[in-house]
Amino acid sequence: MSQSSAETDSQTLANLSHEDRRFDPPEELAAHANVTAETYEEAKADRLAFWAEQAERISWDEPFTEVLDWSNPPFAKWYVGGTLNAAYNCVDRHVEAGHGDRVAFHWVGEPEDDTRDITYAELQDEVCKAANALAELGVGQGDRVAIYMPMIPETAIAMLATVRLGALHTVVFGGFSSDALATRVLDCETKVIITSDGGYRRGSPAALKPAVDEAVAKVEGERPGLVEHVLVVRRTGQDVEWNDDLDLWWHDVVDEASPEHTPEMFDAENPLFVMYTSGSTGKPKGIVHTTGGYLVGTSYTHWAVFDLKPDTDVYWTAADIGWITGHSYIVYGPLANGATSVMYEGTPDTPHKGRWWEIIETYGVTILYCAPTAIRTFMKWGAEIPEKFDLSSLRILGSVGEPINPEAYVWYRETIGSSRCPVMDTWWQTETGMHMISPLPGVTSGKPGSAMTAIPGVSAEVVTDEGEIVPNGSGGYLVLTEPWPSMLRTLLGDDERFKDTYWSKYAEQGWYFAGDGAKKDEDGDIWLLGRVDDVMNVSGHRLSTTEIESALVSHPKVAEAAVVGAADETTGQAVCAFVILRESALEGGEEAPDDLIEELRNHVRKEIGAIAKPRQIMIVPELPKTRSGKIMRRLLKDVAENREVGDVTTLADSTVMDLISEGVKGEK
Ligand code: WT7
Repeated sequence: MSQSSAETDSQTLANLSHEDRRFDPPEELAAHANVTAETYEEAKADRLAFWAEQAERISWDEPFTEVLDWSNPPFAKWYVGGTLNAAYNCVDRHVEAGHGDRVAFHWVGEPEDDTRDITYAELQDEVCKAANALAELGVGQGDRVAIYMPMIPETAIAMLATVRLGALHTVVFGGFSSDALATRVLDCETKVIITSDGGYRRGSPAALKPAVDEAVAKVEGERPGLVEHVLVVRRTGQDVEWNDDLDLWWHDVVDEASPEHTPEMFDAENPLFVMYTSGSTGKPKGIVHTTGGYLVGTSYTHWAVFDLKPDTDVYWTAADIGWITGHSYIVYGPLANGATSVMYEGTPDTPHKGRWWEIIETYGVTILYCAPTAIRTFMKWGAEIPEKFDLSSLRILGSVGEPINPEAYVWYRETIGSSRCPVMDTWWQTETGMHMISPLPGVTSGKPGSAMTAIPGVSAEVVTDEGEIVPNGSGGYLVLTEPWPSMLRTLLGDDERFKDTYWSKYAEQGWYFAGDGAKKDEDGDIWLLGRVDDVMNVSGHRLSTTEIESALVSHPKVAEAAVVGAADETTGQAVCAFVILRESALEGGEEAPDDLIEELRNHVRKEIGAIAKPRQIMIVPELPKTRSGKIMRRLLKDVAENREVGDVTTLADSTVMDLISEGVKGEK
């Protein structure tokens, strides 16, 4: 546990206690809300009965016989004995219910006028064709498929086709590097990779296929024959290298396939997908989600937290499918609910800074869900940009990924939501699969900056290091005290790490340790205070300090590296690296040239992806270490955040910080 968290927490706590604005639910909304205040009581009175009732939103082939089997904690089984098909639930059943003509996705490509509306009936055809094609390529229950794609409809279609066959997907964010892709393909043992030639980003086609080619070459070196096929969607039409042994065009194999496919039913606990996320060590964790509980959890929360009315709402999660937010709230939750969603391929400033607001005006978007980092960027660009557009269709706003600071919350509510739309600050994680702590739009009086309380059916607490529940007005660690349907089931291939990471700290109490600091205010409402482990949150994306440190050290000129997340006005936190160079890197002790720093920044980008590229690299002669050799990142964080350096008494060599501070000052 880093000590820096405690210090930052007390500062944040002091700031937060001044917040006394409250925003009541709009009367009209409250009068017709999907969820009312009584639901909390009902769920509390009988949590399992509540989750049994929520399971009715899903279509089961065999009904389940037990809601939760918690006889072997922390390994949960939800909806025991039930069988279902996830793709059938997300697609076919809506067509059968007469909603085939309803639009599932208003897809908006980045180039203007490059749009496609896909109805549920069309989605059914596409998913069935892709499922038949994948089955033809030998994909079946338990097999793994990697999906490395831009934000195009085929990404969702590929996911649904995979799970329709009982296989698992692992979607790798298209912004990740070939190395990141190769690592995940190897860990997940995927036999098929689905990708595209490229996608549009910032006005021009960005290639994806070359990264896949590199990844495949790397995988071939370690596990020859593991990848059997690479299925390539043609999106941009750019030239691609072609490997006749592996590569197949999507349009050759999928377009020719039959649109008829009878879904097989799978056990509720059949694994659905693996999503990799950063932990506090360098090796990404493969979070495993399973079918029944995940679908119940995501569809319930999407309906409850966004007050979804599938007949009239136009819903938009402005995130990438390559993150859990996209899985739960672009694909599975909205589709299970038969919602109409917007899916947007590109960046918010292409071809102009009003692109999001134009999309909202064009499609009459009623619910917008995005990250605080995006909101802060729009704030910087100025209110006059959204004010040019008609945003009157909006009725609910959502926020996810990091704490939303009160200023951003209020700006979002006023400028985007015309001071009318409630803001849902949703706290959850890749591991939780679904929203856990959030206001509800028809019930909660919102406080800017607080995620408020656990949603019905979820139990969260703030506790001390020793596991005592803190009184109102105090801070501690966030725990989840009861299992929930869409909880992760394990880490792929590593039950021990699963137990260690989440369940060992409060093993006695049987609580899930989330890794976040939190505070309960005087009303008992929860304020999230950020990670307490060596995990950073950059633009709502989780990055591990160790992972970036390993990337830096893999550069031949780097001897040692320490990485911290420093406060950043736009991205929440930014990557700051302290690097000791190898002696051979500097001839005769000269200063590190700027181009070497740029080279190192780009090296991280190549190793992990653009999101991990350090904002700042400082070349230092030493790193602050304890006597046991642990790097004291809290001190480096002080430097990165231009603060007076804190207590250095536990350093093996207390003069080290002077050396670092001097060097860094000299640099500026
Ligand atoms: C971590 C999970 C959940 C999808 C996006 C990120 C932070 C997430 C909030 C919020 C404060 C938040 C936490 C959490 N976080 N949402 N509303 N308020 N912090 O998923 O990559 O799994 O990261 O993001 O620190 O532990 P993730």
